[in-house]
Amino acid sequence: MIREIVVYPDKRLKLISKAVESFDAQLHSLLDDMYDTMCAKNGVGLAAIQVGVDLRALIINIPLENEDGEHDQPKENTLEMINPVIIEQDGCEKFQEGCLSIPGVYEDIERAKHVKVEYFDRDGNKKTIEDDDFLAIAMQHEMDHLDGKVFIEKLSYTKRKKFEKEWKRKIKEGKI
Ligand code: CO
Repeated sequence: MIREIVVYPDKRLKLISKAVESFDAQLHSLLDDMYDTMCAKNGVGLAAIQVGVDLRALIINIPLENEDGEHDQPKENTLEMINPVIIEQDGCEKFQEGCLSIPGVYEDIERAKHVKVEYFDRDGNKKTIEDDDFLAIAMQHEMDHLDGKVFIEKLSYTKRKKFEKEWKRKIKEGKI
């Protein structure tokens, strides 16, 4: 089921999400709905707070290109991370990021190049994953949401001011 996306500057995006304690049917339907919502909006990742649930859960699914050059995000490729924690990070890299809660905005953001993350899957099994490419960036972006942070907070003062001005104008014009 597609859920409604929480859009900036909704205060819920500032919440520190709570640790998941029950790996139950309710969590599973949340994760399933997050997948449906992410696909419907052509996103590559989504944190639970972006559908208004303040739990430390996120999903990432980096699209593959099929024979017709179309993007494909099969459900089985979805990385579901519950209570993730970065246990190692190094390097530095700039990537262009976007966010379903700030639609239409893309900015170069600096993050660690390599991260190693410990997390639980939907059934409560402990896992580890590491990456030094786009997945590393996506994990850091989505994990920031769990701590009430959005990517535009990493912009320089001038760029942030410009963003806020343009965003207010878009809201006024009913474009958001
Ligand atoms: Co985001």
